[in-house]
Amino acid sequence: MEFEDNKDFARKLDEQDPLRKFRDQFNFPQERDGRAPVYLCGNSLGLQPKLAAQYVRDELANWADYAVDGHFHSERPWIKYHRLATKGFAELTGAKAPEVIAMNTLTVNLHLLMASFYRPSSARYKILIEAKAFPSDRYAAMSQIRLHGFDPDDGIVEWQSSNDDGWLEMSDLAAILEREGDSIALLLLPGVQYYTGQVLDMAGICRLGRDAGCAVGLDLAHAIGNVELHLDDWAPDFAAWCTYKYLNAGPGAIGGAYVHESHLSPENLNQLHGWWGHEEKTRFDMLPSFTPAAGAELWQMSNPPILALAPVIASLNVFLDAGLPRLIEKSRMLTNYLRWLIEQRFANRIGILTRDEARGAQLSLIVQDPNIDGKTLFDRLCKLNVTGDWREPDVIRVAPAPLYNSFADVHEFVERLELALR
Ligand SMILES: Cc1ncc(COP(=O)(O)O)c(C=O)c1O
Repeated sequence: MEFEDNKDFARKLDEQDPLRKFRDQFNFPQERDGRAPVYLCGNSLGLQPKLAAQYVRDELANWADYAVDGHFHSERPWIKYHRLATKGFAELTGAKAPEVIAMNTLTVNLHLLMASFYRPSSARYKILIEAKAFPSDRYAAMSQIRLHGFDPDDGIVEWQSSNDDGWLEMSDLAAILEREGDSIALLLLPGVQYYTGQVLDMAGICRLGRDAGCAVGLDLAHAIGNVELHLDDWAPDFAAWCTYKYLNAGPGAIGGAYVHESHLSPENLNQLHGWWGHEEKTRFDMLPSFTPAAGAELWQMSNPPILALAPVIASLNVFLDAGLPRLIEKSRMLTNYLRWLIEQRFANRIGILTRDEARGAQLSLIVQDPNIDGKTLFDRLCKLNVTGDWREPDVIRVAPAPLYNSFADVHEFVERLELALR
């Protein structure tokens, strides 16, 4: 498509957008100094779907009306409430229903899954992460290594970028595995790198990991709801994600986990257990012996916090209504338009770290203009009621979210960027 740099053109694209009705289903932050918000931060915290409040109110009302009977007798009984996330999670990750589960939060799930899939021996005890891994993933991996009696300084293997822009090359990963794969127990890698926005070759990672005899776990925080996922085809051992970014389920909302079906036999009891991982039928018989629940539910421990799960269910319903293929198609157009506008207007002043060859919604911007530094520019954008985010040491991340962002938002962003640069 031939793009044009004017508001009328952006509005025309919005009029033709089959998903435009969804924008009204979200709450936007407030105007500031007479400026409407330009919210391009759905990669960090998605906006609130109006339906979320309804779902939370429903459960508050069920609690008030049914009290303890809400577990079994309300419209959406709490004993099965987590299953309302199953269809959405399975569709968004390319998994089968029994392989996914809504539970806990992301880092907690990474730990619970590592308890099952990081089973080090004296010969094979290392965890491979990427060198710029999100800190929580690194801390989780380091502490697992330490808990198993190894030294994280020796036990963490880093996949470094061999490029100035931080782009990760599969050939470098292959070389590490060739060199020291025998000592690596687990690959813990993201689907989308949070700083550069690179979509990693998850199929390739799983293949290389498997061939080297390593377990593979994927952190899908920046990938779910943003890019197509085919977990069943790729077959990592496990994956985990949060739901507050592209899935719009709210701050600290309940996350999700995936366990490949090959690990779901009842004989596999390498999990940390709690009563919600016990089969549902006899859970309230309060037996001293443990009967495993079927599927990934076996990794559940506690009864889920219903009020934190309600917005997840609401958000997934909005997502399913829009449909991931349509969202991805719009996302490509939105971010293409954003890139085109930035390149048109700000050549040699704003650089884009994120390469087109493998990206989702996010662009990571680097200030090249010698008259201003990145953080100052970011602060000025905030004053102009633009929300992106700043990531140390020098990136401004912006991500138009196709569910609620418009082409007019994207155009308004570059107008304000121009102002901020002046
Ligand atoms: C890639 C990645 N991993 C882990 C986390 C930590 O998530 P949580 O605080 O839900 O454990 C985040 C949070 O943004 C993240 O982006």
